[in-house]
Amino acid sequence: MPKDFLKLSDHTPEDIRWLVEETLRTKRAGRSEKPLAGKSLGMIFTKSSTRTRIGFEVGMYQLGGYATTLRPDEIQLTRGESLRDTAQVLSRFLDGLVVRTYSQEELEELAAHATIPIINALTDKYHPCQAIADYATMLEVKGTLKGLKVAYIGDGNNVANSLLMGGAMLGVDVALATPKNYAPPQDVLKTAAGFAAQSGARIDLTENPLNAARHANFVYTDVWVSMGQEGEENIRRKEFKGFIIDDALMKEAKPDCKAMHCLPAHRGEEISASVMDGPASIVFDQAENKMHAQKAILKKFLGGK
Ligand code: CP
Ligand code: NVA
Repeated sequence: MPKDFLKLSDHTPEDIRWLVEETLRTKRAGRSEKPLAGKSLGMIFTKSSTRTRIGFEVGMYQLGGYATTLRPDEIQLTRGESLRDTAQVLSRFLDGLVVRTYSQEELEELAAHATIPIINALTDKYHPCQAIADYATMLEVKGTLKGLKVAYIGDGNNVANSLLMGGAMLGVDVALATPKNYAPPQDVLKTAAGFAAQSGARIDLTENPLNAARHANFVYTDVWVSMGQEGEENIRRKEFKGFIIDDALMKEAKPDCKAMHCLPAHRGEEISASVMDGPASIVFDQAENKMHAQKAILKKFLGGK
């Protein structure tokens, strides 16, 4: 097993399924397990975070370990110390490092020079911890992942890439509706297609949100403007108009369809307030499951589970 959790496709579908199932076992176990007693986790966040960071911090504490946040402006990285040196030094102190940053390549470089497990807490390309929580939430609602369809409406971004890869690996059908030129990158689509051929998952790409939502068990969306894309805000607001989970879209999906969002949300843009705050919404269960998923990830990568 690779030492790091940088993207789902580095791992086997069996390992990803184990993490999804372990998330729900971990949730049931509550605070009773302390397999990481005496271990320390570092966390570098070069972008904002509410759920992921607090989920790791509290999760590590609940597992008996200690977590410390390394603010990029307070460590020597921002004063020119190289990633390679930083990775080697931190490997001498810590048992694992969680990193949220812009570039996936930068994260992979850091991981290559670290001897401890590096966990991707979001890059511009992937958000693998989110996908584990997302599929665990679907499993929690339905009791199985077999035969399910999730429709993703919006930007083919980090969250979409990991959701797509997860579905392809786990055998969940994924329909993505994105505006023209906002589909996931070709390399992600190709890798996902390879996994889907093995798992039997169906992958559909469309520019029509209502088509994507048809007969879906879950509809999912994320912000139109991700962190780091603030300069594209005006154009994106125009191009993403209509890529919204609202009551009309919910009507296309299955009657018991649930609405998901990785959060934070912008009501009235990618999701209507009526859906976000209505009976079909499971967004806060999904948010809670981030912590349980991240505890499962910590157990596997720091605890050798
Ligand atoms: N969903 C998610 O990753 O949230 P944060 O940005 O608050 O961590
Ligand atoms: N796509 C969003 C997800 C935030 C959790 C972003 O990268 O900003």
